[in-house]
Amino acid sequence: MTSATATRPKITTPDAQTVTQVQHWTDRLFSFRVTRPQSLRFRAGEFVMLGLMGDNGRPLLRAYSIASPTWDEELEFYSIKVPDGPLTSRLQHIAPGDEIILRPKPVGTLVHDALLPGKRIWFLATGTGIAPFASLVREPETYEKYDEVILMHTCRTAAELEYGRRLVESLADDPLIGEMVAGKLRYYPTTTREESRFTGRITDNLTSGKVFADLGIPPLDPATDRAMVCGSMALNKDLMAVLEAAGLREGANSDPREYVVEKAFVGDGV
Ligand code: FAD
Ligand code: A2P
Repeated sequence: MTSATATRPKITTPDAQTVTQVQHWTDRLFSFRVTRPQSLRFRAGEFVMLGLMGDNGRPLLRAYSIASPTWDEELEFYSIKVPDGPLTSRLQHIAPGDEIILRPKPVGTLVHDALLPGKRIWFLATGTGIAPFASLVREPETYEKYDEVILMHTCRTAAELEYGRRLVESLADDPLIGEMVAGKLRYYPTTTREESRFTGRITDNLTSGKVFADLGIPPLDPATDRAMVCGSMALNKDLMAVLEAAGLREGANSDPREYVVEKAFVGDGV
């Protein structure tokens, strides 16, 4: 496999960062780590613009959630590979030592500041929508603010869940947050197009009550439950209806409430 930037001139922008690690999970998914700009401060759950230099000599940038926690020396990202996608058709070929462009201006709504205090927080994701939660489940603030943290992640197949599964598994041995996570983080991965331990869409598992029964916990209550949602626009819309029906209201940085939503990508035909 050829490196995405091997044949290209070095990126001569102050926003260049060096790729340190790349891991391919499926033919549609990969993760990578890059050096962190010294000046970059972000809140867990935020996204930045990153990309490569285009053939026209101008940066080709896309929004990416930061998947690493705020205390990490490097930055981690979890990415789709769109075969004919302007950026990811090339980005999927990056290798350690290559440079990418990263604009160090983090923004986003999936942040603790946008939620009122609560007891239980739900991180609800499909596909690459797990990326912001990969940061939030590694963030001490999450466990300081909540008694219980529930990560629901749904993909078509078990292979597509693997990045999240390995991440959650690794938390127990994490020297910084291992103890905080123990007994607080509940992980509920489901598949929709093949059999696995848990199956079904997030929306269906919430409305049927299956997830509450499986985890042995009470149903959603606006007095105690907070939620963050990240998936396709269709998933977000459907999940918002489920949360609103349970009495939760959408919040924002400037107006904290019971849940917040962010698009995992801007999709076709929705
Ligand atoms: P594009 O022209 O951007 O997309 C082509 C088509 O591919 C889209 O119309 C859509 O149908 C599909 N597509 C794009 N992204 C995805 C995706 N993530 N999952 C499934 N289908 C997709 N992408 C990530 O992989 N990881 C992230 O952490 C991430 N964070 C984002 C945060 C925000 C706030 C937004 C708005 C988008 C985010 N995206 C993320 C999507 C990302 O910005 C790009 O769309 C993606 O990298 C593909 O770029 P592209 O140029 O190859 O194709
Ligand atoms: P399904 O297989 O039933 O379509 P995708 O890979 O297409 O982005 O989907 C990721 C996951 O999100 C799939 O498991 C898919 O289930 C699920 N999903 C897609 N749209 C919705 C929706 N509107 N509500 C709930 N789950 C959805």
